[in-house]
Amino acid sequence: MTRMDRREFVRAGAAVGLTSLSGIKGLPWWETPDLVLRGGTVFDGTGAPGVEADVAVVGDRIQAIGRVPEQGAMEIDLTGQAVAPGFIDIHTHADRPLLDVPMARHRVLQGITLEVGGQCGGSPGPSSEAAAQAARERYRKRYGVEVDLRELGGFFRALEEIPPTVNAASMVGHGTVRGLIVGNENRPATPHELAEMRRLVAGAMAQGAVGFSTGLEYTPSGFAPKEELVELAKALRGTGFPYASHMRNEDDGVLAAVEEALHVGRVAGVPVQISHLKAQGERNWWKAPVILDLLEEAREAGVDVHFDRYPYVAYSTGLSNLFPAAARAGGSGAFVGRLQDPEERPALEAYCRDKIAQLGSWDSVQISSTRRAENAWMRGKRLGEVARELREDPFDLTVRLLVEEGGSVGMIGFGMSEENTALMLSHPLGMICSDGSVYSPSSSGSPHPRSFGTFPRVLGHYVRDEGVMPLETAIHKMTGMSAKKIQLVDRGVLRPGAYADLVAFDPATVGDGATFAEPRRPPTGISLVVVNGAVTVREGGLTGERAGRPVRGAGA
Ligand code: ZN
Ligand code: CU
Repeated sequence: MTRMDRREFVRAGAAVGLTSLSGIKGLPWWETPDLVLRGGTVFDGTGAPGVEADVAVVGDRIQAIGRVPEQGAMEIDLTGQAVAPGFIDIHTHADRPLLDVPMARHRVLQGITLEVGGQCGGSPGPSSEAAAQAARERYRKRYGVEVDLRELGGFFRALEEIPPTVNAASMVGHGTVRGLIVGNENRPATPHELAEMRRLVAGAMAQGAVGFSTGLEYTPSGFAPKEELVELAKALRGTGFPYASHMRNEDDGVLAAVEEALHVGRVAGVPVQISHLKAQGERNWWKAPVILDLLEEAREAGVDVHFDRYPYVAYSTGLSNLFPAAARAGGSGAFVGRLQDPEERPALEAYCRDKIAQLGSWDSVQISSTRRAENAWMRGKRLGEVARELREDPFDLTVRLLVEEGGSVGMIGFGMSEENTALMLSHPLGMICSDGSVYSPSSSGSPHPRSFGTFPRVLGHYVRDEGVMPLETAIHKMTGMSAKKIQLVDRGVLRPGAYADLVAFDPATVGDGATFAEPRRPPTGISLVVVNGAVTVREGGLTGERAGRPVRGAGA
């Protein structure tokens, strides 16, 4: 950590403050600050090293950074702590669930102040009339407010009615749009359907979406050929917002899948964000550096590509993902039917057993959620372990579980290497994401710890303990770098005039409490989180403030 001579910095800070302030309308920089954070080491989110400084906040904005002589209405001493922009989770599923769990306790406790949802092809809008009606009744009953999710813009308005503790942005999901226009069918879209989908994507972008995402390993997104993705991504051309790709494959076919994602960006002429990049399965671990070379080459050839990654060697998905996407066409009922069909079963069994071989063994799969109470004892256990206890063949057990649970069982797959995880987290093109969601404190199941510990895990385990990258670099990958990818200019960086989204933590003690065995344990070392100027976490506990807002893209 480098330290500028303090007096020199005060002058530099004051000068910077004054020049930028002159251009900001309505920011009363001469006013008494509402909040002054004293004596922390300020990391501004640009990747620059930390500098000891005070931070003054007026209303929802940063007023000044430097030496602040005025006494604030509220003063917080942060001597010995790092102060950074609030963390931006560039790939998260905490979008629509925020309306159900607006306190988002385990999200804001880890320093997240902005969730970028609508990922993996699924967004909170547009929705069918029926789904929107169900949502309308749900939230009317629960909060007495009117929510309209027929369009993505309605989700942003809902966040204003039911404010969460954190801010939220959203991409528009390809699976969501394809489900509405084509349904859950394994076929290319007709020209008319393609035009309809493109109209929906463009409409969502105009309402404030910050990108277009696919979930090509899922249905119905995966039923689209490459040409469809190019056509739809073209709706973003000229906006600067990215095509975010959960690629068609993340294991044996990952190199071709990376090529496809880059092809879409190149031909459509849009930036690319590869979602939760990984090389899954031991026999594919050698591909990680090859993928990174492909991305670097593509950048040199003019494709504005980046990626995101979570700090764990295990991924999280549905148990149905052990089977090919084609087997899931037509929805869960059809999938469960195929699993029981003696004609189809041998091919499905071969595919599933190969997927397990690639992961290592049946013990590489942990059951994370089940719907039925009688299977609840399996949550948190490995498939192999459960099979041994029941003296049942693990494949038979997998099929039986999926049939009993209507095709919907959550799983965690231990498929990545430590070495590649560190390599990807620290790579200059990589940003930090959780790929997690928000859970109600009363929910059951044993979800992936990434939803609870991602950001403190990077800062504690990977930065402090493993030394994979400098602290300022890690902070940049969770703040300014992510903001830039979705073209936010007033979040993700600390400067006068920017929104006062801030986090303070002790670099010596910051860490994740969450483990695969006990995912819900809170993090350590994060003392303060400020969202739009409101102190939301203090001394590691929630204050009750819910100052989060919708963050609409510049296209709105
Ligand atoms: Zn995904
Ligand atoms: Cu995801």
